[in-house]
Amino acid sequence: AANEEHVGSLKQQLAKLFEASLRTTVPDELDVEPLIAACNPRFGDYQCNNAMSLWTKIKGKGSEFTGPQPIGKAIMNNLPHSEMVDKCSIAGPGFVNVVLSKDWIAKSIQKMLINGIETWSPKLTVKRAVIDFSSPNIAKEMHVGHLRSTIIGDTLARMLEFSNVEVLRRNHVGDWGTQFGMLIEFLFEKFPNVEVVNDQAIGDLEAFYKASKQRFDSDPGFKERAQQAVVSLQGGEEKYRKAWAQICEISRRGYQRVYQRLGIKIEEKGESFYNPYIPRVLEELDKKGLIEESEGARVIFIEGKNIPLIVVKKDGGFNYASTDLAALWYRLNEEKAEWIIYVTDVGQREHFEMFFTAAKRAGWLPAGENMYPKTNHVGFGLVLGEDGKRFRTRSTEVVRLVDLLDEAKSRCKAVLVERGKADEWTEEELDQTAEAVGYGAVKYADLKNNRLTNYTFNFDQMLNDKGNTAVYLLYAHARICSIIRKSGKNIEELKKTGTIVLAHPDERALGLHLLQFAEIVEEACTNLLPNVLCEYLYNLSEFFTRFYSNCQVVGSAEETSRLLLCEATAVVMRKCFYLLGIVPVYKI
Ligand code: ARG
Repeated sequence: AANEEHVGSLKQQLAKLFEASLRTTVPDELDVEPLIAACNPRFGDYQCNNAMSLWTKIKGKGSEFTGPQPIGKAIMNNLPHSEMVDKCSIAGPGFVNVVLSKDWIAKSIQKMLINGIETWSPKLTVKRAVIDFSSPNIAKEMHVGHLRSTIIGDTLARMLEFSNVEVLRRNHVGDWGTQFGMLIEFLFEKFPNVEVVNDQAIGDLEAFYKASKQRFDSDPGFKERAQQAVVSLQGGEEKYRKAWAQICEISRRGYQRVYQRLGIKIEEKGESFYNPYIPRVLEELDKKGLIEESEGARVIFIEGKNIPLIVVKKDGGFNYASTDLAALWYRLNEEKAEWIIYVTDVGQREHFEMFFTAAKRAGWLPAGENMYPKTNHVGFGLVLGEDGKRFRTRSTEVVRLVDLLDEAKSRCKAVLVERGKADEWTEEELDQTAEAVGYGAVKYADLKNNRLTNYTFNFDQMLNDKGNTAVYLLYAHARICSIIRKSGKNIEELKKTGTIVLAHPDERALGLHLLQFAEIVEEACTNLLPNVLCEYLYNLSEFFTRFYSNCQVVGSAEETSRLLLCEATAVVMRKCFYLLGIVPVYKI
């Protein structure tokens, strides 16, 4: 049923209507797509903006029209009759304003309540996408930069999945490269007789990394053995492969714990996975004439860039770029992905631009914009500390992710205890709520900003229960649930028997905003901007507050309709939370 009822976003539904009108109005202009945008609320809810550009296209070509305004009028008059439209008008040079019917808005909400929010998901044309995110480096601690990548990547994956795209969530971990020579050699030195080294034995893997690096830098003998170890590892020698696998496994278990706490699903296909593909991918690029010799290295020159993309180092080894080229080849050809999205800090923009350009030159990707298959680098800014500098703890250490999550949780728990919840709730309930609110707050504080800007990490701010925070939004949602609960009505029954009526202007405004959910998700997906969804969610809570302060719910003549509106708001809020990776709470 959900599929039959699937309606797409509001804009998509309007576009269908206007498309029909355009076919009648300008039958020769088959490639014209309806341009639908929100409009000035004084004139309506949406407008169709095709008249101007159509006029530029057809004027002087013997058309019956004398200007953009007559075209707009014709578009308006040819609009097929539809329940969704209340009235239309023309503004300026042919804009067609549309006022949606509030009965239709009410009906749509009611249908969604019965058939599920999935019927409101946008339909994207892409079938399969790869999202390359999180991607920490083995033996190094996951830091806040990786936290950003993890949070942003997960949200994008959730939004695309909701929009009917199959998403391959890929963890491109740094598990290959010359640093493994030194790590393996150090492991052999420290545990000469141990078969299986576990995390207890190694303890802090990052400290292990540092110690081995120190040894590498100060002892020429060790350095030589380490370099030899790289050769043995890459030659596939059993003993070295085993040691490598052990180090990776310890690291993996560490970040798996973080993923579990944050509710992140991701599949590891690290750099090592693509290593066997590199030679033939480079051979293909070489045959196409892309690869040149430069200062002993093999490189691809990119127009407009001062430095070339190095694909084979002077010593003959492969690097980050050669791995990424092989991974892209694999994703396009083996995994048949049409959209490949990389989430890293903006500092890597140049790297991505360069290898995307190389892929275009190789003919792997079309040259034009917005053609598929396509790649996008989703860059993000720094996490800053209170001092405006890169976020660090007192020492020069990077901030450990697990410590941040621990603190977020314990602060939330303290607040709950302070509010007397310890007497009402079980320990488990306290913990679950503290985690939901604490981790949710960390995620939301990150996602609500445009990802390109730096943001300041501040617990007091993100855990404030007023303002644009997850805490505020989670509480708002819980409050709506409690309004419904306390009404004593069976909401499942009301969904079937009751009717939504949007008589009050604040009811209509809330209803329209609810209906705009799908187009917001669509916009957030197309532009890869999670903050768009955060803004929508925050505005939703504001529309609800206005409605709730001006329209009495429980005990009023409109109680049924208004309870249904409360329920719809809660449903949409929960879907927003889900898409942002935030776990809702039902009582506070
Ligand atoms: N491991 C890299 C880092 O920590 C990120 C990898 C991003 N993905 C990629 N395909 N290059 O900076």
